[in-house]
Amino acid sequence: MKKKNLVKALGLLALALTGCQTAKTTDTFLAEEIANIEVQHTLQTDLIEANGSFINPRTIDKEGKIVYVPIDDWTSGFFPGSMWLDYELTGNEKWKLLAEKYTESLDSVKLLKWHHDVGFMIGCSYLTGYRLCHQPAYKDVIVEAAKSLSTRFRPGAGVIQSWNTDRGWQSKRGWECPVIIDNMMNLELLFEATRLSGDSTFYHIATSHADVTMKNHFRADNSCYHVVDYTLKDGKVRSRQTAQGYADESSWARGQAWAIYGYTVCYRYTHEPAYLQQAEKTLNFILNNKNMPQDLVPYWDFDAPDIPAAPRDASAAACTASALYEMEGYGPGKGYKELADKIVYSLSTPAYKAEQGTNGNFILMHSVGSIPHGAEIDVPLNYADYYYQEALIRKRNLENNEPFSFEK
Ligand code: GLY
Repeated sequence: MKKKNLVKALGLLALALTGCQTAKTTDTFLAEEIANIEVQHTLQTDLIEANGSFINPRTIDKEGKIVYVPIDDWTSGFFPGSMWLDYELTGNEKWKLLAEKYTESLDSVKLLKWHHDVGFMIGCSYLTGYRLCHQPAYKDVIVEAAKSLSTRFRPGAGVIQSWNTDRGWQSKRGWECPVIIDNMMNLELLFEATRLSGDSTFYHIATSHADVTMKNHFRADNSCYHVVDYTLKDGKVRSRQTAQGYADESSWARGQAWAIYGYTVCYRYTHEPAYLQQAEKTLNFILNNKNMPQDLVPYWDFDAPDIPAAPRDASAAACTASALYEMEGYGPGKGYKELADKIVYSLSTPAYKAEQGTNGNFILMHSVGSIPHGAEIDVPLNYADYYYQEALIRKRNLENNEPFSFEK
């Protein structure tokens, strides 16, 4: 991070550390967060177990009722993944049993080829489980899922096509080979599949996608577009647009978070400095944005027209915090851990953390799915909770000088 940017970020941090968190030790803080997560997830899994058929809570609807999704929904891996993270946070076998059950219900997702999100779905569930318990059967699912994701690689363009263009609202945009920045989050599955299988095809697809995305998705200020559409034949950029942000030229907050997290993961597997630099540059963009709030929980889009009334997006903040803890390992002393701590402390306050038994039993309030689609505005989202839990684990591991689970 450039010195002046870091100074500004640490200034923001100092301002925000005037609240209750300064008095708490990290152990007390984590113990309280873990206890709260266990209460919410016990309520959630009691409902799931009593019902028996709905297993993937994603959010709540306008009446406050829990919305469950089928296994081919892009978010289906997060709740099973949260169960694994509960197990990692507590060591309680109860969570392991539930994690296994919910994860294994996703088995057929390994064959899903009609969208790119198999990386989120199998990554958060099976890969998180594999890292903790090394089940041989999970390894096979991870490699099979990577094969499915690889069918979406378009050699002429050098990228993985995110969405199909023959159905749904995506068919109405005139796209040929749309790639969304979110796709950077699916590359971890490919890198791991190479590590587990020895087949370097997955690795090369991942790096090709990351390189082409780095070339075409970022503006001069290092913010990223949401959608870049390519020609299939030779990868010419047809358009740069948005689907979930405020405008084509705006900076959608979760997209920036996916970029920061995704390029950090690419650095983990390749040690290619340009990937980490991209994560740092996009981080600098958000930290120095005039619309970044002092608590570092961004508005849903940095260019939303109604700031400060615009909804915040806790999911973007949680994802960024988790990435920052990993970045700390690659650039200790740059202030990344302090920034991540600031975000998790913000998210742990009553401004974002739900009271027990409310919020559909999700942990965090105030995320945004897609305002342009009128969907999931200022609600809990299962992925906000997943990345919040992951951030807490990474914080604990850093402070105890323990490796992250992906290093074990
Ligand atoms: N990958 C979809 C989203 O971030 O909302």
